[in-house]
Amino acid sequence: MAERYGNIVGWGKYVPDRVVTNADFEKRLDTSDEWIVARTGIRERRHASEGEVTSQMSTAAAREALGIAGLRPSDLDLIIVATSTPDYLTPPVSSQIQHLLGAGHVGAFTLVTGCTGFVYALATAQQFIASGSVTNALVIGVEIISRFVDWEDRATCILFGDGAGAVVVQATDEPCGVLSFDLGSDGSGAEHLILPAGGAAIPVTHEALVKKQQYLRMNGNEVFKFATRVLGKSLRQAIAKAGLTADDIDLIVPHQANVRIIESAARQAKLPMEKVFVNIHKYGNTSAASIPIALCEALEEGRARVGDTLAFVSFGAGLTWATAIVKLAERKQPVSRRKRWFSFLGWFIRDSSSLRSSE
Ligand code: ACO
Repeated sequence: MAERYGNIVGWGKYVPDRVVTNADFEKRLDTSDEWIVARTGIRERRHASEGEVTSQMSTAAAREALGIAGLRPSDLDLIIVATSTPDYLTPPVSSQIQHLLGAGHVGAFTLVTGCTGFVYALATAQQFIASGSVTNALVIGVEIISRFVDWEDRATCILFGDGAGAVVVQATDEPCGVLSFDLGSDGSGAEHLILPAGGAAIPVTHEALVKKQQYLRMNGNEVFKFATRVLGKSLRQAIAKAGLTADDIDLIVPHQANVRIIESAARQAKLPMEKVFVNIHKYGNTSAASIPIALCEALEEGRARVGDTLAFVSFGAGLTWATAIVKLAERKQPVSRRKRWFSFLGWFIRDSSSLRSSE
């Protein structure tokens, strides 16, 4: 079988209208715009309004991506949703999104690896496409973290924002899409970024609520050290696996967690900041949504173009890390459609010759 690759042929994003600035936090917390900007690079973030949920935000981003891809929801063969903040613990939000989109009864699943979720999901979609079982995959990264932070914890609540990003990945025989990836995890650092209650270990009881265990807890310094330790290395490894050098990367689209972490990763990979896309000042850390949202904006602003080779680089809860080197290629007719035509042609030739031989 000819090699199959997954080209990104559609992209879309959704961010809530509600803007929360650093000045808004100054009004109710012992913090300042100067501190937040200097330590994180964040100036404002978006928060979901009451009634806005993960499934709806995902569907909006997915519709935009399908529109750019020129596909209908019924053309999809697979839906993968990366999130740590689904509408419910069960049912999986991926099935809700499949239903809201009006996609066929295709496989849909949710993948949870924290902020690295989108890159893990993209690498997974690529495997389905390479195996020949999927032609059009929808990959979504989405979060509503604002519902899971302690508004009295100034070290975490200022960091996070809500949003959704989606891409459509389509099979092609042109070498493109995910050229290489580097995925990793180190569960020994689990407690550095944890939402203790709500799972099987600590059910949501009155006692858990009193201890505020329903909120995200983070050891910022440890996460910071971990991120600066793994990101540059992961980026260098993924570039080498793709058979490329740093010079071949047109743009890094990193997880937007902290501008100082992003600068450190670029420095370690010997890439100048001009080659790094940053939009953390507008959205804060949107976890699994941050890379697809940044990708959409990089394409909208002309910072990324068809033909470019991009590096998606991320770290997050787990602790995990994930990098993918991705080439955006011109769109061709999806490989499986052409294959179907050729197999029809093969059947027709075989069938007509067997008819002739039986005459
Ligand atoms: N405003 C003012 N002061 C603050 C604030 C705030 N919002 N938050 C903390 N401080 C104080 C601290 O209390 C501390 O005061 P002290 O010295 O009197 O004790 C001081 O500022 C310094 O605190 P540090 O934690 O050392 O500050 P640091 O420079 O490390 O920045 C930060 C903190 C921004 C959280 C940083 O550690 C960081 O970005 N870590 C990585 C976090 C991250 O990326 N998390 C997302 C992971 S991805 C995912 O899966 C969700």
